[in-house]
Amino acid sequence: MMKVVDIHSHFFPKHWQDLAAKFGGNDWPWLRHEQNSEKGQNPNQGKETDKAMLMKGDKEFRPIYSACWDASVRLEEMDRDGVDKQIISATPILFAYDKPVDQAEYCAQLFNDAAIDICAQGDNRLFALAQVPLQDIDASCREVSRAKASGHVGVQIGNHVGDKNMDDAGVLTFLQHCANEDIPVFVHPWDMMAANRTKDYMMGWTVGMPAETQLSIVSMILGGGFDQVSSNLKICFAHGGGSFAFLLGRLDNAWHHRSIARGKSEFPPSHYLNRFFLDTAVFDHDSLDLLVKKMGPERLMFGSDYPFPLGEKQMGQLITTAPSLSDSNKQQLLASNAEQFFNI
Ligand code: CO
Repeated sequence: MMKVVDIHSHFFPKHWQDLAAKFGGNDWPWLRHEQNSEKGQNPNQGKETDKAMLMKGDKEFRPIYSACWDASVRLEEMDRDGVDKQIISATPILFAYDKPVDQAEYCAQLFNDAAIDICAQGDNRLFALAQVPLQDIDASCREVSRAKASGHVGVQIGNHVGDKNMDDAGVLTFLQHCANEDIPVFVHPWDMMAANRTKDYMMGWTVGMPAETQLSIVSMILGGGFDQVSSNLKICFAHGGGSFAFLLGRLDNAWHHRSIARGKSEFPPSHYLNRFFLDTAVFDHDSLDLLVKKMGPERLMFGSDYPFPLGEKQMGQLITTAPSLSDSNKQQLLASNAEQFFNI
């Protein structure tokens, strides 16, 4: 049996403060718990079940269940699935990057503390990534340092803030702060491009997210981000880096043949592959082979997107059944790279 560490999973607290009542506005996230007919302590109300609807204002966003908030349910399912440790992170709907900074900082503190509470029930098998109000770099540095001191093993950021990409000077300052404080960074796509043209068939997830992640890696490279930020920065991009690895040849070709395609990067894009990590949520052996070939087995970490419907159903199976990977490489991808990356 191989040890398994899942670096990409999400949580929600079971309850949190009514943010719309506190701050005003009609697009705050909240959970509408399903109730069964059995009477709870309040005779007018049923008992909450293990199911809830994630709401954004008055719109239904996604059905979720108790694994999101209940550590004991997570641990049971981890035992069932053969997962030893799990890194939990917020879902981007909680980021509040488009809100005033004091509100986003409040949310970051609220959800970061809630994540630590869940991990405290996790039998030393659950570890949390913090969120930060990335629209304000000083506040982000402040909160990520506070979160680290409270037990977070890293930070998750959305892959852009409005129109600012990963090469934004403020974002790079934040990344340097994380490098200085040895805080690993996980980059998750969110707020996907071309929303009006991808609203059908879940194309926001299947097309928008991989494109967002590719955009982030490319902007970080060509914007000179990796030249500027210290090489001890630990940074990992979600979903296998999206469409990045497959299109690397196109990028290098453009870099060599058109000076405007070089941006501020000192070297061609393929030079920077040893500066970041990717998770393995690609669901296909040929894609995984390409990632191993381009990135090397030391730069990939198992991530499942648990407990959401597009996550890997048989935990770690893509890696354990990969025909071209040695057992020692499998163990690197499944656990040991992640244990080093997050110091867990
Ligand atoms: Co995810």
